[in-house]
Amino acid sequence: MSFVVVIDGPSAAGKSTTARAVAERLGMRYLDTGAFYRALALKVAQAGVRADDAAAVTAIARGSVIDFSGSPSQAHVFLDGRDVSGEIRTPEVSEMASRVAAVPEVRRLMVEWQRAMRERGPLVGEGRDLGTVVFPDADVKIFLEADVETRAKRRCRELQARGIAVSLDAVREDIERRDHRDITRPDSPLLAAGDSHRVDSSGLDLDAQVDAVLAVIAAHPRCPSSRASG
Ligand code: DC
Repeated sequence: MSFVVVIDGPSAAGKSTTARAVAERLGMRYLDTGAFYRALALKVAQAGVRADDAAAVTAIARGSVIDFSGSPSQAHVFLDGRDVSGEIRTPEVSEMASRVAAVPEVRRLMVEWQRAMRERGPLVGEGRDLGTVVFPDADVKIFLEADVETRAKRRCRELQARGIAVSLDAVREDIERRDHRDITRPDSPLLAAGDSHRVDSSGLDLDAQVDAVLAVIAAHPRCPSSRASG
């Protein structure tokens, strides 16, 4: 079985940047599981379907092909063969993704597709339910968290850098609403696996955050250590 590292945690905790950097350092694949929910959300929105219409959302999911590939720094998500990597990063898609992710049948399909990624080799995956549901036997489990103010400021900067005008208050509210939905949904809620290592990135810059995660991985006996220590 391929070596698997999972990083779970709430929105905007820095999972994506950290997972990419760690995957790059260890020469492993990167898997963004949120991108699967976002791609589906985009299709649901474009079809004019309501996210709470579970049957319609499930039918769309069943008729979709979502794939994730590329290097950690150049990862791409494909929806029915079309590269939607840029389109899925809007606040509207974030909100819709959190809604479609609460549909149990959708989660079942996504988990199946995400598990198949392990066949392509060792990976660093990030999401909400990787340590608990998708890869419960992962070699290393990290739960990355940060206080809501830190997360809101980071997400705000990220969106503004991409030319999306947002206010800090609106971003904080979005994050709190999505966290609440992700934590309270009955099926696979956002939850730290009992055997996960918790890393709080509130006071850490990116390098320190990546180093903290690499240190946990380096302690694993099967760690691809040659690059971890470099
Ligand atoms: O990580 P992200 O912001 O791209 O995720 C978008 C939404 O997808 C998030 O609100 C919850 C959902 N999600 C999930 O339920 N399970 C995952 N493994 C990843 C994301």
